[in-house]
Amino acid sequence: MPASPIRKLVPFADEAKARGVHVYHLNIGQPDIESPERALAALETLQTRVIAYSHSQGEAGYLEALISYYARFGIALERSNINVTTGGSEAILFALLITMNPGEEVLVPEPFYTNYNAFAQVAGVVIKPITTQVNDGFHLPSMEQIESLIGPQTKAILLCNPSNPTGTVYRREEIDGIVQIAQRHDLWILSDEVYREFVFEPREGDYQSLLQLRSEGLPHLHGADSVGTEQGTGFQHSDLAERVIMMDSISKRYSMCGARIGCLVSRNKEVMDAALRLAQARLSSPQVEQRMALAAHGMPDTYLPEIVDVYRGRRDVVFEALQAMPGVTCTRPEGAFYTIPELPIDNAERFARWLLTDFSFEGETVMVAPAAGFYATPGLGTQQIRIAFVLEEASLARAMQLLERALATYRQTML
Ligand SMILES: Cc1ncc(COP(=O)(O)O)c(C=O)c1O
Repeated sequence: MPASPIRKLVPFADEAKARGVHVYHLNIGQPDIESPERALAALETLQTRVIAYSHSQGEAGYLEALISYYARFGIALERSNINVTTGGSEAILFALLITMNPGEEVLVPEPFYTNYNAFAQVAGVVIKPITTQVNDGFHLPSMEQIESLIGPQTKAILLCNPSNPTGTVYRREEIDGIVQIAQRHDLWILSDEVYREFVFEPREGDYQSLLQLRSEGLPHLHGADSVGTEQGTGFQHSDLAERVIMMDSISKRYSMCGARIGCLVSRNKEVMDAALRLAQARLSSPQVEQRMALAAHGMPDTYLPEIVDVYRGRRDVVFEALQAMPGVTCTRPEGAFYTIPELPIDNAERFARWLLTDFSFEGETVMVAPAAGFYATPGLGTQQIRIAFVLEEASLARAMQLLERALATYRQTML
């Protein structure tokens, strides 16, 4: 199993703290936002005397809340389309286990969420990276380039949109391209949408979920009654809805990372049957937290836009600071709460460690995640770091000052 590149610097951070150095954590996507009032209240007023197993598929009330939630995006679901999971993490693992046999391949734009590596390892599947570039804002390369990666063992494309770790929000044309490729090569589309609402400048026509790809009415596909018509594949829309598996989570949406509640959603009956069998094997997802999640879903419609406003402000602080740093390349993050800048250094792993072991300014330093671990291709991302903007603006501004100072010192003393 690969070690998490995000967590392996933790001992150095602990040592820095033991020396009395204050460490700003830009390395991990743990939001500092308080969990919704209603979710906390549900915990406080919990009546049960037994913390019991819940249904393997999920608690009935919570499944209904999820159906209402997706309906807001024009996505009509039935209970049988949803399985509650222990975090989005379990949904991703289930999706890989369900769709692929050991040795088969899944295409994933890199840099990608590093735990995909671990889940792929468990499922015995191989990640084939679609390399994207910092200069393009990590948007997808041409469809020809993507298609050239497809071989007989390729069975799926996994997209994270908005993306952790890049902050990229894929454009409608990119998604349509991926859909056409999936149709043409008969691939599953695995869609990680845990950051769905975290889009800073929504573009008209962009998808909020790949579950919006439906058998009927796909206006974005120019009114064609078969997705493949323009490409001559002859696939019907119904095939399309059947190939999409969506993975979701309340961890980021409601700042409830520790609740461990996510879900897997598909209109494909066989997929959902398999998901339920996996879910039965692990008995159930947390019961109490599903009650909290249910309560969180009852927050007013204004709740999430306000949270996204907060993150937009943080994004601006980080991006403007990075842009002003000499030698740093960075495009403006469009969503989620991450960015990957390229730094004028020799090795980001060395730099990230040095920040914790050797650098401090006025008793403070920053912790960042070296980006190489987010790539599958060896040698890529060695000058890049991932920054999570999950601190309040004043702390982020200070952290950016420290980073700029650290870069200058590192370049003078270490290169
Ligand atoms: C892209 C992405 N997918 C899935 C997850 C897993 O989320 P959960 O806490 O629901 O397991 C994360 C968590 O950071 C993530 O960033």
